[in-house]
Amino acid sequence: MIFDDIELLIKNGAKRAGYEENFSVSFSAMPKLCDFQCNDCFTLSKKYKKNPFEIAQSIVDNIEKNDYFLFEVAKPAFINVKMTDKALSKIANSYLKDDRLGVPMHEEKQKVIMDYGGANVAKALHVGHLRSPIIGESLKRLYRFLGDEVIADVHLGDWGLQMGLTELQLYLDGKLDYYFKGVGKEPKITLEMLNEAYPKASARKNNDEVFKTQADDWTLKIQRKEEPYYQIYKKIREVSVKEIKKHYSELGAEFDLWYGESDAQDYIDKTIKIIEDKGLTRISDGALVVDVAVEGENIPIPKTSEDEVQRYKNPMPPAILKKYNGGVLYATTDIATILMRNEMFKGVDRIEYIVDLRQKNHFIQVFRVCKMSGISPEKQSLIHIGYGTMNGKDGKPFKTRSGDTIKLEDIIELLVDKAGQKLKSNGVKYDRALALKIGVGAMKFGDLINNVDKDYVFDLDKFMAFEGKTGPYIQYCVVRINSILSKIAQDEGEFFISNEEEREIIRNILKVNSSYEICYKNKTLSSLCLAIYNLASSFSTFYNNHNVINQKDEKVRRSYVALLKLVKKKLEQALNILAIDIPQKM
Ligand code: ARG
Repeated sequence: MIFDDIELLIKNGAKRAGYEENFSVSFSAMPKLCDFQCNDCFTLSKKYKKNPFEIAQSIVDNIEKNDYFLFEVAKPAFINVKMTDKALSKIANSYLKDDRLGVPMHEEKQKVIMDYGGANVAKALHVGHLRSPIIGESLKRLYRFLGDEVIADVHLGDWGLQMGLTELQLYLDGKLDYYFKGVGKEPKITLEMLNEAYPKASARKNNDEVFKTQADDWTLKIQRKEEPYYQIYKKIREVSVKEIKKHYSELGAEFDLWYGESDAQDYIDKTIKIIEDKGLTRISDGALVVDVAVEGENIPIPKTSEDEVQRYKNPMPPAILKKYNGGVLYATTDIATILMRNEMFKGVDRIEYIVDLRQKNHFIQVFRVCKMSGISPEKQSLIHIGYGTMNGKDGKPFKTRSGDTIKLEDIIELLVDKAGQKLKSNGVKYDRALALKIGVGAMKFGDLINNVDKDYVFDLDKFMAFEGKTGPYIQYCVVRINSILSKIAQDEGEFFISNEEEREIIRNILKVNSSYEICYKNKTLSSLCLAIYNLASSFSTFYNNHNVINQKDEKVRRSYVALLKLVKKKLEQALNILAIDIPQKM
């Protein structure tokens, strides 16, 4: 809004000066000098073949005088804009009265399906599944906040080889005799059984071809819903999903649909028929494939470390729809799921996948097949939001000391422990729910402040620090404001700026507000995280320099209360988007 106002004032000034142009302003790169700046006079200078400083001066001379903005030319040819205290105060008061605290909603809403979470049934959740629910949940909340209609689907991995492997292993270990040999009583399938069976089978398949073929066969029987394979599968799924739900709920990830790959099974035949009817398939080594390569394309080969040079291969390999034995694969269920989603929900504008960057080629294949076959309408966007890897301090993917992948469960306990220690050292009584809020909040902020596609280092001490760009720092700011407000116990009055620190706070609030749009465009939460850190830090400067609680002047004190409430609401609003809970104390 403010940007629009300033741009219009400049545009009208320019018109009077003889330039029919549109202008754009941005936040100032030199906040000490001004609040906003416009750099367009350089381009105008080329177009009109005139000295840019003179153009800027003539525009500024022609801008209508007003109470809110001061315009000035700075060398070589910037138009600097400063907001008056009156303007900043007025904005702050209007935000405070607004439910949305001044963040506009999009006029055009989109219908979006978000696919995130993606845990695999029968396998223990591991650290590789941490980023998807964190990033997905907060992007979902952001989209909804700005007006999109979003359906979140967890899309469990429940139809692949791991199912056959796990079941076969349980069978070989004599745990399924009831079903296959009719002896004993019906076994209760437990999480412990699964946690033992899958890793064992997964290791064996790598050096035992016969076993692998047998597991393929079991997987196929499950996919064909043959008994007793299918009923055992359903039991495995149930035990596993219960565990997944528990972890996702601790991470604050909420889904509208708890579908999995298996839910696409009823759409597989139809999917394949559509693709075949378009003449897109061929048989290759007994498998049914679709060629998706395009001319002149180079495919980046994933790097194994940051400093490796980027190498390419060519072209994109075909998407495999059916295996040699007729079984379906990851790509098949993903394509059929797009068909299912389009049949279930009409008019979907975008489908977004929050999945590891390393699955880039998989999504290129899936999306191309859907576009070539018309399974995804032309105007629908299919987007893979690929995230980078969470590394350990050694720069390699985060592992246990012995080199195993870390279970999600263990990470959560690590976070809770560390937060518990912090609470203790602050003299707060330990409470698991409280420690979970702080620990998980720290983890989320430590993740979301990075650009989604970048790798980052899991550094628990850094994430958990109460100072710096961390979750606990922001949480603490809210907790502190709550405590100050309870001490003052007075209603807010009209807010007016009475010092430089307050100016800085309101400027930071403007930046928080405009960061929502940046995050929406870039599909990453980093600018919101940074903006709320700056806001919290400017609040703390203000609080250190001014006596808030014992402020004698009643008008000033009530203005302070208004400011405190605005900062608190602004932080709460942002933390809610980031799905970071606020502890009662810390
Ligand atoms: N289960 C998959 C994995 O663990 C992630 C699923 C992502 N979503 C999708 N539609 N492919 O890698």
